[in-house]
Amino acid sequence: MFIIGCGYIGQRLARRLRDDGQPVQGLVRSAESAAALERLGIGALIRDLDRETLPADSTRGRQVFFLAPPPPRGQRDTRMRRFLAGLEHSGQPRRILYISTTGVYGDCQGAWVDETRPARPRADRARRRWDAEQQLRAWRERSGGELVILRVAGIYGPGKLPLARLRRQVPMVAEADAPWTNRIHADDLVEVCLAAMRRAPDGALYNACDGTPGNMTDYFNRVADLAGLPRPPIVSLAEARETLSSGLLSYLAESRRLSNRRLLDELGIQLRYPDLERGLPSCFGGPD
Ligand SMILES: NC(=O)c1ccc[n+]([C@@H]2O[C@H](COP(=O)([O-])OP(=O)(O)OC[C@H]3O[C@@H](n4cnc5c(N)ncnc54)[C@H](OP(=O)(O)O)[C@@H]3O)[C@@H](O)[C@H]2O)c1
Repeated sequence: MFIIGCGYIGQRLARRLRDDGQPVQGLVRSAESAAALERLGIGALIRDLDRETLPADSTRGRQVFFLAPPPPRGQRDTRMRRFLAGLEHSGQPRRILYISTTGVYGDCQGAWVDETRPARPRADRARRRWDAEQQLRAWRERSGGELVILRVAGIYGPGKLPLARLRRQVPMVAEADAPWTNRIHADDLVEVCLAAMRRAPDGALYNACDGTPGNMTDYFNRVADLAGLPRPPIVSLAEARETLSSGLLSYLAESRRLSNRRLLDELGIQLRYPDLERGLPSCFGGPD
């Protein structure tokens, strides 16, 4: 198994594979991240997907988890383009599991969304993901390699909570004004990645979320309460437009309730944390 973009989720996935006795290697960009992988007993490869291609035969016949994000700007995923072109040299993988985002659906005005809903990405970050998905589908067609795509909701877990933002007292809108958002616990996402790599049919697409949509304000309030921090101050929508970052505002401009029925039914997955009430306490007080 080869994990390209072996960061927060990739490391957890690599540890699970290592503990199962499966050989695993992780690709990262920086020496610090490579050292962190080596400390975990996971083989590391340092490559910058923006500039470099992979070594000869490093991907040939392998199962590849592609977890590296697109570049931070533009509407195209140039990283993915370079990676796929480089497969001529590094070899065609047997299967690629790609982590996309639920943002590709665009604003759905609070509707329930399953995988049959057409993608209508609005924000550039979602357009880059949609571009990556399209490139991968074209790769599958021309190479005969297998592809599974997960459209992943907001990830939370130990060490991945908005504590810094809460400490800065970044304001939020009232719950009544906040759009629907969707989450998934990091541990559940790791299990979903493993199951999808092992059991999903070729060409499958799944929403990866806990199936219990909420709103961003409620999420911040819950994290604040558990962390013993003050809840964020509440501002009107008009004030939010003046004060919040464009990144946060772009999340507030889209509302969806994601169904995970296909994921649960087809992959036979039982989530450990099907809602924040069960998932958030696990993020506090552990060794991780
Ligand atoms: N956060 C969310 O709520 C959310 C929701 C849906 C999907 N996702 C996506 O899920 C994926 C996994 O998330 P994560 O939290 O594990 O991300 P992460 O911790 O930021 O890890 C990303 C990894 O990609 C590597 N990487 C980034 N740019 C690279 C480049 N140019 N060349 C080579 N490697 C590069 C990083 O290497 P270095 O460590 O060396 O920089 C890092 O190992 C990401 O694609 C993320 O965007 C996230």
